Amino acid sequence: MRLLVAGGAGFIGCNFVRLRLRETDDQIVVLDKLTYAGREENLDDVRDHERFRFERGAIEDPRVVAEVMEGCDAVVNFAAETHVDRSIASAGDFVTTNARGTWVLLEAARERGLRYVQVSTDEVYGSIESGSFTESSPLRPSSPYSATKAGGDLLAASYFHTYGLPTVVCRGSNNYGPYQYPEKLIPLMILNALAGDPLPVYGDGLNVRNWLHAEDFGRAIGVVLESGVPGDAYNVGGPDECANLDVVRRILALCGRDESLIEFVADRPGHDRRYSLASEKVRALGWSPQVRFEQGLEQTVAWYRDSSWWWEPIRSGEYRSYYARHYGRELG
Ligand code: NAD
Ligand code: TYD
Repeated sequence: MRLLVAGGAGFIGCNFVRLRLRETDDQIVVLDKLTYAGREENLDDVRDHERFRFERGAIEDPRVVAEVMEGCDAVVNFAAETHVDRSIASAGDFVTTNARGTWVLLEAARERGLRYVQVSTDEVYGSIESGSFTESSPLRPSSPYSATKAGGDLLAASYFHTYGLPTVVCRGSNNYGPYQYPEKLIPLMILNALAGDPLPVYGDGLNVRNWLHAEDFGRAIGVVLESGVPGDAYNVGGPDECANLDVVRRILALCGRDESLIEFVADRPGHDRRYSLASEKVRALGWSPQVRFEQGLEQTVAWYRDSSWWWEPIRSGEYRSYYARHYGRELG
C-alpha cells in the first residue's frame, strides 16, 4: 500500500511509521506541518529508508494535500493539535487543524476514492465514572481539544454516509512511549523527576486514565486500516488503568526519586475524571494489546533517560516558555 500519513512527525505518527516500515511493505509519505510538537528528529532513523518520503505542509492547505496524495491508496490522519491544556488557553489552531484540516483531507480523499483512517481519542466520549464506553456511546466532549476531535470524527463518518468514501475512525485511550512531547503527563513527570524538578499534579491526582503503549495503538490502527468496516468506529483501550498519582509515584520510583517532589497544583478547568473504552470490536479483528503498563512505563523511563539528545533541545526551547506560562514557574 502507498500510505499518506498526515502528522507522521508527531509522537504516535512517528512510532506508526517506524512500525509499518518494519513490519509491512508499505510505501509511506509523511505530510506534517512541524508545529512545536512535530519534529523531523522523530523520524531521523527512517529518513533514508527507500520506502519513505517526508513533505512539510499543512493538512488545511488543499494545494499541498492534492500534491502529496497523488498516487496514494490510503490516508491515515494523525495530524492534530493535541494538548488539552493548550486548547483551554486558546482553541483557534485546534479548530483549524482538527476540524477544517480533517475536512480538507477528506475532500481530497473523496476526489480520489481513497481509504481513510481518522485517528481519534477516547476523550470524544467525555468522562465516565464506572464501566466503559462502546462505539455507540454518545459523543460528549468536554474540552475544546476533544470537541474539535469529535468534529473530525463526525466529518469522517459523514463522508461515508454521504459520499460512500470508505472512512474508519480509530479512537485510542491515553498513549505513552518514546518520542512523546513532554507537555503530556508521563514524559513531563519523567523529565522533571530526572532533573529533580517538582512534579505538578492537578487537583487531587485521582483522575484515572487508561494507558496504551504507542506501538499497541499503531498495530490497532494497522488492523483497522486493513480490515475495519467502512463507516464504523473502533475503540482501542490499553490493558491497564491507573490514577495519575499512582503513575507519578511509579515514575519517581523508577527514577530513584523521593515522593517529596510531588506538588499538588490547581486543577485543570473541566478536568475529565476517568476515561475507559470497551475494545471488543477491534479485538474481534484480531488485535490485542501486547505491552502491560508496568513494563511499558519502565521501558519509557529508560528511553527518556538515554535520549537527552532528543529532549534537551525541547526543554531549552518553546517548551520552556510554555512551562513557565502554564505552571507559573521556570523549569530547572
Ligand atoms: P502530537 O502532538 O505529538 O503530534 C501531532 C502531529 O501533527 C505533529 O507532528 C504536528 O506537527 C502535526 N500537525 C499539527 N497540526 C498540523 C497541520 N495543520 N498540518 C499538518 N500537520 C500538523 O500528537 P500525538 O500524541 O502523536 O497524537 C496523534 C493523533 O492521535 C492525534 O490525532 C490525537 O488526537 C490522537 N490521539 C492521541 C492520544 C495521546 O494520548 N497522545 C491518544 C489517542 C488519540
Ligand atoms: P494529559 O497527558 O494532558 O492527557 P489527557 O488530558 O489528554 O488525558 O494528562 C493526563 C492526566 O494527567 C490528566 O488527568 C491531567 C493530568 N496532568 C497532571 O496532573 N499534571 C500535568 O502537569 C499534566 C500535563 C497532566
